[in-house]
Parts: sequence; C-alpha cells; structure tokens
Amino acid sequence: MRSPTTKLLSLLLVFIFSISSTVLAHTHEDFLQCLSLQSQNSTSSISKVIYAPNNSSYSSILHFSIQNQRFNTTSTPKPLVIVTPLDESHIQAAISCSKQHGIQIRVRSGGHDYEGLSYVSEIPFIILDLANLRSVTIDVETSTAWVQSGATIGELSYRIAEKSRTLAFPAGLCPTVGVGGHFSGGGYGTLMRKHGLSADNVIDARFMDMNGRILDRKSMGEDLFWAIRGGGGASFGIILEWKIKLVPIPSNVTVFTIHKTVEQNAIKLVHRWQHIAHKLDENLFIRVIISRVNFSQPENKTTQATFNSLYLGGIDELIPLMQQSFPELGLVEQDCTEMSWIESVLYFADYPIGESIDVLLDRTPLVRASFKAKSDYVKEPISETGLKGIWKRFHEKEAQFAQIMTPYGGRMSEIAESAIPFPHRAGNIYKIQNIVYWVEEGAEAAERHIGWMRRLYRYMTPYVSKGPRAAYVNYRDLDIGVNNNGNTSYEQASIWGVKYFKNNFHRLVHVKTKVDPGNFFRHEQSIPPLTSWREKKED
Ligand code: FDA
Repeated sequence: MRSPTTKLLSLLLVFIFSISSTVLAHTHEDFLQCLSLQSQNSTSSISKVIYAPNNSSYSSILHFSIQNQRFNTTSTPKPLVIVTPLDESHIQAAISCSKQHGIQIRVRSGGHDYEGLSYVSEIPFIILDLANLRSVTIDVETSTAWVQSGATIGELSYRIAEKSRTLAFPAGLCPTVGVGGHFSGGGYGTLMRKHGLSADNVIDARFMDMNGRILDRKSMGEDLFWAIRGGGGASFGIILEWKIKLVPIPSNVTVFTIHKTVEQNAIKLVHRWQHIAHKLDENLFIRVIISRVNFSQPENKTTQATFNSLYLGGIDELIPLMQQSFPELGLVEQDCTEMSWIESVLYFADYPIGESIDVLLDRTPLVRASFKAKSDYVKEPISETGLKGIWKRFHEKEAQFAQIMTPYGGRMSEIAESAIPFPHRAGNIYKIQNIVYWVEEGAEAAERHIGWMRRLYRYMTPYVSKGPRAAYVNYRDLDIGVNNNGNTSYEQASIWGVKYFKNNFHRLVHVKTKVDPGNFFRHEQSIPPLTSWREKKED
C-alpha cells in the first residue's frame, strides 16, 4: 500500500503536469493565433505551411530530415509547431511570434546536426524548416552562385553541373547535408586541399536578424559576416542565402579506392600515409577510412584501411605522382577511373559508377541509424603501436564504427587561423572523425555504444591536439560542454567554445553581444552574449 506522503506526491505531480500542459496548450494556441495575424501582412498565406501536432503531415515533416535516429524516439521532445516557410515574410512572422510568446526557434536546413539541435529542445520550441527555400542561381560568367540555405549540397552540385563541367564548389561528401548548417560550420570535402572549406568560399550572404531585418554583407558589416562563416549555426540569426565563389575544375578528374586489411600490411601503410598525405600535390586528396570487415565470421574477421582518393587531373599524371610520393600503396592504372567532377560527387557518396546524377536531387537521407561521433586533430604521426591500440578496439562488440582520417596541407594550411571562425589550419597533419552506428532501439543500446566511443576518445588523448583538444563544430559533440538554458557565462561556454574556435571564440562572443544581446537565438552550444557588467569589465 502506498503511504499518505507518496499519495500526496503523486497528486502534486498530476497537478503540476496538468498545469504545465494547460500552459503549453495556451502558449501553442496564442502562438498560432499570432502567426495567422502576422500572416495578414505577409505576401502569401502562412496557414498552408504551419503544421501543428494534430495535422496529418506533422509527423512525416518532422521525421523526414532527422538524420540521427538517436533523436527520433517517442521520448524525444517534439516541437509545438513546424513552420516550412515559402517566403521570407513567413520567417519574419515566426521570429516575431516566437519572441512575443517566449518560444524557442530551432532552424533546420538539412537536419544533419549530430546532436539533433535543429529539431530538438528541452524547452517549448518550434521548428523553422527551410526545405522549401532552396533555389540555386548559377552565374557561369562570374563563376558565382546564390544558394538558399534550405538547399542540400547535392542540389547545389547538381545545379552547378547543369551549367558547367569545369566549375565546382568545395563541400562535404554526403549530398543530403543542408547548405544552412554546413556553410555555417565550415564544410570539409574532397576539394579542401586545393580550395579550402565551403565557408572559405562564401563571398556574400543574406541574413535575418532577431528583429526580422534582412541584411547583406555590406549592411551587416564585416564582423557579423565573419562570424556566420564557420561560427556554427543558429547563434546569430538566420542565414537565408549565400553567395559563393565557384572554383575551376578540370573536365576530367580521377578517383580510386583501395582496401588493405591488417594482413595486407594496412597498419604500416596508414603509418606511412600520415607522413605524406598532407605534403602531397594539392590536386591530390587521399583520405583513409578504418573499419572492421566480416565481423560475423570469426575465422575471417579483420580490420581494413580504405584509401579513397580524388585527383584533379587525368590517370596519366596521377600514376607517376603516386609512384613518386606513395609507391607503397602500389596504385596501378586499373585501380583508377576518370570521370567528371559531378560523377565524382556520386562516387564519394557511394553510388555505383554510372548512376544518374538525378539522385542528387533526392533529399531522403542515405542512411538512417543512430550514431555518436567525435572529432580530433592530429599534429604528429601516431606510432605504429598507437595505431595498433586503436585498431584492437574494432574487435569489441559495440565497435560498429569507422575512423575517417582526412588529410590537411595545401590550401588548408595557407589560410590564417583567424580568417574565419573555423581555426583548424596549419600545424595539423590530418583530422579524425570517429563515428559509431547502431540500429538497436532503446536507451541501453545507446549508452553501450556511446560509452564505447567515450572510452576510445580517452584512449586517443596522447595522440591528438592538446591545449585545447580541438574539435570541429560541424561534428557537434555535446560531451565537450554545454550552455545553460538561460544565461551562460563566458567561462562556461569557453569550455566547448575554445575547442571549436580556439582564439576566435572571443571575437564570436563580441559579435553575438552586438547582434543578439538578449540571446534570442540560442541552443546548447550557441555562442553566448556577455551578459553582465562584470563580464564586460573583465573582458
Ligand atoms: P541542420 O539543419 O541540422 O543544422 C545544423 C545547425 O545549423 C543547427 O544548429 C541549425 O539550427 C543551424 N542552422 C541550419 N540552417 C541554418 C540557417 N539557415 N541559419 C542559421 N542556422 C542554421 N561535414 C563536413 O564538413 N563534411 C562532410 O563530408 C560531412 N558529411 C556528413 C555526412 C552525414 C551523414 C552527416 C549527418 C553530417 C555530415 N557532415 C559533414 C556534418 C554537417 O556538415 C553538419 O552536420 C551540418 O551542420 C549539417 O547541416 P544541415 O543544414 O544539414 O543541418
């Protein structure tokens, strides 16, 4: 039998719950009413693009762009409303009503945030899903383009290829990644050694601030323009559109993929790769992916290194280059395929050679699984013993896992650390992404796999960057520190901020204080404004 105290507590909980549900329902209704009032000033009706939980499309719209299934469970907090704007006046309305009713906005472009920050929040929120705002306008004559944030990088690449075989844009490898988040955090891809990141190639932007004002590079000023190119998404306002500089590309490029298992000397090859990959000709990009193979067959299971490469030129030039710089890999002509740049985009997204480039227009995520990732930067080659220690971990049960090693050098090492907020430049020989996947449902499976990833991260400590142990904001990792829901001190935010942005964190906080002092645009790892006089004085 329950004691009177337990009964009282249960009653109290029911009471609190019913009050908070009523408050939420009111907030929700008031918010909807506000949107419909605002809509009267809009160029097109907003009512068609508001999805409340009782709308039959609410669930499918919410789930469509959820890349990480870890945040697609029944207990994941859901938005009060999803708005899918058709024009910029709808975004203005959503900002204005969210401000009036104290509701948080989560902005979603492609939905690939590793920690689900574009569609999950612990406090009442709406999702502003930009998927309808995805036009791409290419100007071949000036080698520039305007791309709306709701486009995916696959759509962008497709539109470029429609117009030219010799223009390209440096961006990531997964076509369904959204331009909005990707450009806001950096944007690594196969062209980085020659042309840098996506954010390095942004030359203008259209931006909406917390008052619904639309600014371009000139009217926002160089500080804010600097901050939105790599300072992480959703800290300053909403980037509506980006003007980018397209880069020249040969009409034929060459790709190859070579797998080597431990038994085929993989550890020695990776050890060697660490010494040369960042020094290679800047037209040559060779990344390495470590993964386990045949895990379900005890007698055949092993670990392999996959050398996955793009060369900006033909096979005839590549073979002598490889013989000179990395003969140990034993590359021969038969390993290589020449193709157009757009075909190489498909190749790196794992489509079979010959697939139609129309698949780039499909926004459906290529894989849907739960995952946890962590990033690291390497400054000195890891010893063979160190590599063996990492590889041993692939034999553990939870290690449904890949370690992706992306070479530095070339343009990446020429750009100054402070040119944009993304600071990881000269001095790094490669970047690591560790990513563990699982398909089992439930909290227990998640804890097991995440626990495994954290142990690996601890093991890697002596081999990677220190003071700070640097991380890439687009591989968002809430383990490295989070903000409070309300005010967060500079010191608290520095814990994660300095890892993502090094000394640039300081300037980002200054920009934030200027453009959004009330911290309207915020999330667990948004740049905080300096909130108190004490902080300002100490600064
Ligand atoms: P999403 O919509 O989830 O947004 C991410 C963050 O940016 C959120 O905080 C969001 O609120 C904010 N945001 C989005 N649009 C905004 C806007 N218009 N204005 C202001 N804030 C906005 N990275 C890389 O560099 N190279 C790569 O090859 C890959 N590959 C890759 C593959 C896969 C399968 C995944 C899941 C992720 C990657 N990434 C990557 C990481 C990717 O660059 C990163 O997750 C981006 O932030 C994703 O941008 P989305 O717009 O898709 O995400």
